[in-house]
Amino acid sequence: MNVLVVGSGGREHAICHALARSPRLGRLFCLPGNGGTALLGTNVMGDAADVKLALEVARRENIGLTVIGPEEPLAAGMADAFEQAGLAVFGPRAAAAQLEADKAYAKQLMRAQAVPTADARSFSDYRQACAYIETRDEALVVKAAGLAKGKGVIVCDEPHEALLVAERMLVKREFGPAGARIVVEERLEGREVSVLAIVDGATLHILETAQDHKRLLDGDRGPNTGGMGAYSPAPPIDAETMHQIEAQVFVPILDGLLRDGVRYRGVLYAGLMLTRGGPKVLEFNCRLGDPETQALLPRLRTDLLDVFEAAVHGRLDEIRLDWDPRPALCVVMASAGYPNSPSERTPISGIPVEAPDVMVYQAGTLRLGERTFAVGGRVLGVSALGDTLECARRRAYEVAGTISFEGAQYRGDIGLEPVASVSG
Ligand code: AMP
Ligand code: GLY
Repeated sequence: MNVLVVGSGGREHAICHALARSPRLGRLFCLPGNGGTALLGTNVMGDAADVKLALEVARRENIGLTVIGPEEPLAAGMADAFEQAGLAVFGPRAAAAQLEADKAYAKQLMRAQAVPTADARSFSDYRQACAYIETRDEALVVKAAGLAKGKGVIVCDEPHEALLVAERMLVKREFGPAGARIVVEERLEGREVSVLAIVDGATLHILETAQDHKRLLDGDRGPNTGGMGAYSPAPPIDAETMHQIEAQVFVPILDGLLRDGVRYRGVLYAGLMLTRGGPKVLEFNCRLGDPETQALLPRLRTDLLDVFEAAVHGRLDEIRLDWDPRPALCVVMASAGYPNSPSERTPISGIPVEAPDVMVYQAGTLRLGERTFAVGGRVLGVSALGDTLECARRRAYEVAGTISFEGAQYRGDIGLEPVASVSG
């Protein structure tokens, strides 16, 4: 079967890499892909959110399954367009992708379904936001309601900081259209965990756990990023809490969507805070995490093509997910300007051709002839499996140390410290 993967990050390279292990895979296409996916299949130039182009490619190349990696094409209705055209697609429809693309909508659905989450109000009027913030005397979090690449959340220590952030978002429009509506919510304390599930509308399989490191610098300092590394499994969540998360978060959200006529097909990702009052939702994503995927998929033994197909055709109940018990850890190597400014194209050297239990996933790269160039953002994710997390860590860093490109930056403490519970 021919497969099209939409996206260009490390997540998409990891997906392609796992699909390439399937004996049932025919030809593999990526829109637009990167230097890594170019080694596994055919990259199609264009924009990942270009619905028309994706449909054209799917028809022209006789694609049997399209897998949508990032949030933008999902929010743009790519899955809807494929379903309408009678083409198999893995990823939720736009209405369900609103869970990630519109935090105000996510809050509303959570409230309607009694899903535990931080108390919140949403505003598009600055004066109304101020009037509300002034009545609060606890620490607040202000979020741009729209898609902001993981950078639209500001955790405030003092209520007056929240006033300034509201002004930056609603008046100065520093966050662009994403900040035209904001969510102001109570700040929660506790351990942060991410739980991902693959869903076909009826059956739900919780995936193995993974944890990312969002801050740029060692010790969880510096600005928030898309993620500078990840490891799997995450520190354990006890069975009762996991059961609560499934029963109080996943089931009611999927029920609520179904009531609105949306059958969710794809990955639902819940970011949670384990508070003293139980798990509470911080956010939903409607897709696999990046870089969590680069730590999860090296551990998946089940054929990923079978898993995606089962989800698309409502047959997930027939699938058992089989995981390598060994931990995996991914170190992200980013370009000099990440996350704030773009970087010049620069050659990469030292990517190993073959290294046992190591996968070098590419993201911001370009393949030209026989050479691979860094083109900015997160450039590589070096993932390793090991008998223990420490072994995986050592192995990933050993390989990262042999790879070089100008201005490369990466954290030295992925998987070392438990991730801080609050950011500021
Ligand atoms: P989000 O994109 O909504 O997950 O927010 C990004 C990060 O901000 C989260 O990973 C948390 O570390 C932090 N955060 C978000 N909401 C809250 C909250 N209500 N209380 C404390 N921290 C939060
Ligand atoms: N690493 C977090 C995300 O993919 O949103």
